[in-house]
Amino acid sequence: MRMYDILAKKRDGLTLAPQELEFFARGAADGSIPDYQLSAMLMAIYLNGMSDEETAALTDAMARSGDLVDLSPIPGVKVDKHSTGGVGDKTTLIVGPIVAACGVPVAKMSGAGLGHTGGTIDKLCAIPGFETQLEKERFFEIVRTVGLAVISQSGNIAPADKKLYALRDVTATIGSLPLIASSVMSKKIASGADAILLDVKTGDGAFMKTPEEAVALARCMVGIGEAVGRRTAALITGMDRPLGYAVGNALEVAEAIRLLGGEEIPDLREVCLALAAGMLHLAGKGEEAHCRLLAEQALKSGRALEKLRQMIAAQGGDSRVTEDPSLLPLAPVQKALTAWQDGFVEQMAAQHCGTASMLLGAGRAKKEDPIDYGAGIRFLKKPGDPVQKGEALAILYTSDAARLPQAEEHLRAAIRLSGEAPRLAPLLYARVTRDGVQRF
Ligand code: URA
Repeated sequence: MRMYDILAKKRDGLTLAPQELEFFARGAADGSIPDYQLSAMLMAIYLNGMSDEETAALTDAMARSGDLVDLSPIPGVKVDKHSTGGVGDKTTLIVGPIVAACGVPVAKMSGAGLGHTGGTIDKLCAIPGFETQLEKERFFEIVRTVGLAVISQSGNIAPADKKLYALRDVTATIGSLPLIASSVMSKKIASGADAILLDVKTGDGAFMKTPEEAVALARCMVGIGEAVGRRTAALITGMDRPLGYAVGNALEVAEAIRLLGGEEIPDLREVCLALAAGMLHLAGKGEEAHCRLLAEQALKSGRALEKLRQMIAAQGGDSRVTEDPSLLPLAPVQKALTAWQDGFVEQMAAQHCGTASMLLGAGRAKKEDPIDYGAGIRFLKKPGDPVQKGEALAILYTSDAARLPQAEEHLRAAIRLSGEAPRLAPLLYARVTRDGVQRF
């Protein structure tokens, strides 16, 4: 088999056989296919698309390109969750503890952030002492005893995706349905959970800009998961504005703790309860409405916060942060962005907000860049809120004052103020399961 022939076939819009997709995925993982041929193939897939069968075959080959984690030593139905990437998306830090507090084990492998989107592992690393690289035996032991552990994805989970994702990032081929579906599902399948809940984001800050594109991606991923025997469902959630009031690693951990401690943060709470209910339902805890009640009780009773505390302690972190979030790092240079007119906040474009936070030091422009865990943005206003000229809209945090001007420029570009109260885009759009699409 020759990569040249496979490329020519995809270039001409023909359908590839599973063996050809296997050859491509294996060659990406072991380095036997050069970057220029891999990149050409990615562009051919981007331009010509793939059938559902091709996407499923590529996913399977990518999942088998590295280690397949066996979670069977942990008793119970293990449920995983995956977000397609967002700004201010600290849901794993809230949903994981809620689900674990309801008796469903969560053994989660997460990634670092890249570009304007954040990653759970970077947020956890903001907690002093927290260890994200654990031996498998210790990881399993914590899940068995605490019910929840979150570690960084090992280097050898779906290495084909690792290679292809890095090339997609620099060849303008990220926003392709079959490439996103195979990337996400290969990692989820290799990570070993029995059931998978996907949080497919839509809106300005998401890869899928419209709800219809997000539903199409969700249907494809649900089909792939179910075909390999994993119960899979997806929620389509809004990412036209950041979730909650905090963007940046330590700031987001603090916000997650405050929500688990009972603070009212409506948009974040709503999305987290919907995701937790979805995970509990997939784990066989009953009808969705009943699962929602279970999740609300775990949150209200403080049991979920206690689970987070136990997990932080078990993974070597300073668990006192759950009682006193001021123990988390906070960058010393702080600047307020103030309203330039009276009126209402009409828009806070998520992508620009994410870029502003990254420029303050909270994220990486390149994989090797160090992270300033205390950097980020704390919003004081959200879309729909009334504002007066001169009132603070947000506080920017950084350790390097030279970063402020460019970040402020992005944040200013993200925010639109207007004279009239805006109509807000929904937070929850649809649920996609093997039985079809339920729109809210
Ligand atoms: N998340 C992933 O893991 N892969 C993609 O391609 C997009 C989002």
